[in-house]
Amino acid sequence: MQSISDELRLDKRQAPPAELMVLRHRYPPAQWPAHRNYGELAAFWLQVHAGLRGQGRVLAETTRDFREARIDIATFGRVFAGQLRDYLQHLEGHHRIEDLHYFPRFRALDNRLVAGFDLLENDHEIIHAQVLTVVESAQALLRDIERGGDAPRYSADAYSDRAERLHGLLDRHLDDEEALVIPSILEYSEAALR
Ligand SMILES: [Fe+2]
Ligand SMILES: [Fe+2]
Repeated sequence: MQSISDELRLDKRQAPPAELMVLRHRYPPAQWPAHRNYGELAAFWLQVHAGLRGQGRVLAETTRDFREARIDIATFGRVFAGQLRDYLQHLEGHHRIEDLHYFPRFRALDNRLVAGFDLLENDHEIIHAQVLTVVESAQALLRDIERGGDAPRYSADAYSDRAERLHGLLDRHLDDEEALVIPSILEYSEAALR
């Protein structure tokens, strides 16, 4: 993987530059589903991303319910731990399959795609680092719930700051990835990726 310039990093960029998104202008999102090369893989990819966005939203709602005292602490601790585990397993599993299986295949299809997929792989590293800080603050929160008292309120605030940052990074990444992956599938077909 090539090194990524600082202003293109996931935590710095507003949008990826046009030269990395070479096929995007040929395939506007509204036309994706009707394209003859739009098949199971493209649909599944978007479905996984929608699932991750949804899991993130549910988790944020659970945390908000606790911070605004709409659920009791025991229920929160149980629900939160399960939702966070499922969300992060889904997220990290998805990134592993992309890094190991799909991204190398996209790079092999077209030299112009290499820099874009390198950028997405670098995004995964930045997201993983943020996942680790989220896990650390979630563990502190769960420990404070066991102990009782006021501490969980403060650790829920600390957790929420980190989780919001993760959701922001992931939203940017999912949007940019879809804008690179789906046009590439439409251009080269799903058979080229097996
Ligand atoms: Fe990704
Ligand atoms: Fe993805």
